[in-house]
Amino acid sequence: MQKKISIAIDGPAGAGKSTIAKMISKEMGIVYLDTGAMYRTVALKAIRDQINTTDRDSLSKMVDSIDIAVNYIDGEQFICLNGEDVTSKIRTPEISIGASNVAVVPEVRIKMVELQRQIASKTSVIMDGRDIGTYVLPDAQYKFFLTASVEERALRRYNEQIAKGYKDISLDNVKNDIEYRDKNDSSREFAPLSKAADAIEIDTTSLSIDEVAQRIINIIRKEM
Ligand code: DC
Repeated sequence: MQKKISIAIDGPAGAGKSTIAKMISKEMGIVYLDTGAMYRTVALKAIRDQINTTDRDSLSKMVDSIDIAVNYIDGEQFICLNGEDVTSKIRTPEISIGASNVAVVPEVRIKMVELQRQIASKTSVIMDGRDIGTYVLPDAQYKFFLTASVEERALRRYNEQIAKGYKDISLDNVKNDIEYRDKNDSSREFAPLSKAADAIEIDTTSLSIDEVAQRIINIIRKEM
């Protein structure tokens, strides 16, 4: 039997983490866990319940009573909120900001991290997020920290949203949202966005997705 491995991919929004993590998970035949989807699901529930995503007290109570589950169908991740599949409902700009807000609340993080660690304890996994290498899986064998200039990250997100059919967005708004999240995610007290001391940093600004994925796969294969 092959040894269980865990790979942590951290970095700010738009650095290419999820696309690259998905490619590596396919190539290596291991589970991909998009941890951002969990915080997005909490934000969706808050917005549905008309709870302000910066209202820490209400959020810490709410998170206690919700059930978030991650399922896989043909290697693709689906996320359920109290039994409802909400995978297609958590990618709006409003939810992106909401997710960054709810992720500040320690009670929210503790519950999400428990689920993340549970999944990683059972199987080989590549997880992407903000605190995977520093907090969720400090003993992960492979840690990467992806970055890119804010202009490049905004452009990538803008193009993604346009491709999905969103019309009411501007590059400036997308850039502002990313800057807000960068600041919020890296300045929170509990498990902020930061590079683990033993993570390999890759600036993806002028690299293609394939180049980054290949670079990571080569590093992992060489060390395996
Ligand atoms: O990766 P993403 O854009 O889907 O994440 C949405 C927000 O969730 C992000 O701005 C901060 C939060 N998040 C976090 O705090 N920790 C993680 N491991 C993943 C996401």
